[in-house]
Amino acid sequence: MKGLRIISTGSARPAKAVTNDDLAKIVDTSDDWIYPRTGIHSRYLCGEGETTSTLAIQAAKEAMERSGLGPDDISALICATTSPDHVAPNVACQIQRALDMPETIPVLDVNAACTGFIYALETARGFLAMQSEEEAADRPRYALVVGAEHLSKMLDFTDRTTCVLFGDGAGAAVVELAEDVPYASMLGARGGDEISCEGPGPVPAKIQMDGKAVFRFATGALTKCVDILLTKSGRTMDDIDQVICHQANERIVDFCIRKLKAPETKFFKNMDHYGNTGAASVALALDEAMCGNAVKPGDSLLLVGFGAGLTWAGVLITVK
Ligand code: COA
Repeated sequence: MKGLRIISTGSARPAKAVTNDDLAKIVDTSDDWIYPRTGIHSRYLCGEGETTSTLAIQAAKEAMERSGLGPDDISALICATTSPDHVAPNVACQIQRALDMPETIPVLDVNAACTGFIYALETARGFLAMQSEEEAADRPRYALVVGAEHLSKMLDFTDRTTCVLFGDGAGAAVVELAEDVPYASMLGARGGDEISCEGPGPVPAKIQMDGKAVFRFATGALTKCVDILLTKSGRTMDDIDQVICHQANERIVDFCIRKLKAPETKFFKNMDHYGNTGAASVALALDEAMCGNAVKPGDSLLLVGFGAGLTWAGVLITVK
């Protein structure tokens, strides 16, 4: 099977970090309530002039600069988001214009909520793999995949059960289609409205959630997805260097670690300073892991997402 390899990553976040104590000034909550239940201390929230597309463009530029590739080397551009600036043009086309990407490539947004970045990677792999041998000879097999969200515009800051959980940001990766890489994937969904958001329409969009039901779904989905990816690839946890999963809630990740009897150090976490950034979450965590010591060239990673839809998905992928 032709799989993806990660060439480079990038990320972007709004200028303003908002702590739990800051939120406690506008809604009846506290760090003592939020942190033990979620692992979140602060999150970045968009201010004036910051939107999904501005963050997406910044993250995409950084990933492209670090890849050493030019715009003409990209054969597919996919952006995962649930919070585009507007219905049209999509965020991917806004990135295309800003980065001067070619006109003859597929450019589209994917909405699979917090699982979006994984769905976007697989969409990109599909487009790259679809090229005929003749096309592939003329065309590079690289894709730019972005996850970006401005979730705070869809939050009700009078609802303490949701507004403390989410944040804004963007992450991006340049990936390559290759034959000689270990790769496995699974994509899934279970139609359900346990997390929902009205719109687009005249009523302001507001994220709503049945927290307990989502918690049950998320713990099951994350654990099952890791199991499926290991089984599909014929690997064990010993072969995996890092699991980079959706950063919704530290307790969800810890549940999975206990259930799989996996070493805690293999599960990357950065929700303490980002909160849940939806489709950006896995991409942001991947970039932070790549920039720090957590991930090094040649590492095997499991990237796993879960979220509204209810969607869940994962890939086993290697870093160049
Ligand atoms: N600050 C203070 N109190 C809060 C609060 C907040 N931010 N949010 C809720 N509460 C209160 C509730 O009003 C309730 O009070 P009551 O007992 O007087 O009615 C109490 O805390 C318990 O609320 P509950 O909703 O039962 O809490 P919980 O233990 O289920 O924890 C979550 C809530 C959201 C942390 C938890 O359900 C969760 O993590 N769910 C998964 C959410 C998620 O990750 N979603 C995204 C997946 S992509």
